[in-house]
Amino acid sequence: MAQLFLDTAKLEEIEEAASWGALDGVTTNPTLMMRAGTADLKTNTIKIAAIVQGPVSAEVISTDAAGMISEARDILSWSEHVFVKIPCTVEGLKAIREIATWPNGRVNCTLIFSPTQAYLAAKAGAAYASIFVGRIDDAGLDGMEVVRQSREIFDNYGFDCQLLAASIRHTAHVVDALLAGADIITVPFGVLQKMVRSPFTDVGLARFQADWEKVAG
Ligand code: E4P
Repeated sequence: MAQLFLDTAKLEEIEEAASWGALDGVTTNPTLMMRAGTADLKTNTIKIAAIVQGPVSAEVISTDAAGMISEARDILSWSEHVFVKIPCTVEGLKAIREIATWPNGRVNCTLIFSPTQAYLAAKAGAAYASIFVGRIDDAGLDGMEVVRQSREIFDNYGFDCQLLAASIRHTAHVVDALLAGADIITVPFGVLQKMVRSPFTDVGLARFQADWEKVAG
């Protein structure tokens, strides 16, 4: 089954989404931490993991392999639920190759914009390959096509790497990602709210209640 993650570092949003019973995990990044108003990555990530009790991605800041590996050692020690986010660069791939050999080496390879990057992330040993669908669309290209092609490549060769559709902007992205075979979709809280809402549901409910009042009340 496709997993649904929340793309936020705000605890109140995570608590609310978790209460709906549909939340499998959380992804964060430095921008989302900034929006949550915290620079304490460790404390916030541990709090998120305690709420969601599932995979939580926390991103490194270093850009060189040695620095990323050092940060990953620390980040992965915070909780059994934590995945370390490593960018898809040459230095990132070097770091992933090393981290993936650790018993707790759970890596989410992030900032992926092409099927070749997804392929290299999987080869290096990443558990997740995060494709930034919305940002690819922003560049005038087809973000979901990158998900579809990466799905086919992973299936052709049986890569043990989950495809994560990220940078989701609207509910149509969610539907398309499900149809494209993404293993995980991470959505902002606003998109999650829109996924459950329909004006027709509200109108239908109001009519049922009004009719019931007529007969029972
Ligand atoms: C998820 O892992 C990414 O950090 C996130 O989806 C990026 O989304 P954005 O393009 O809206 O910043």
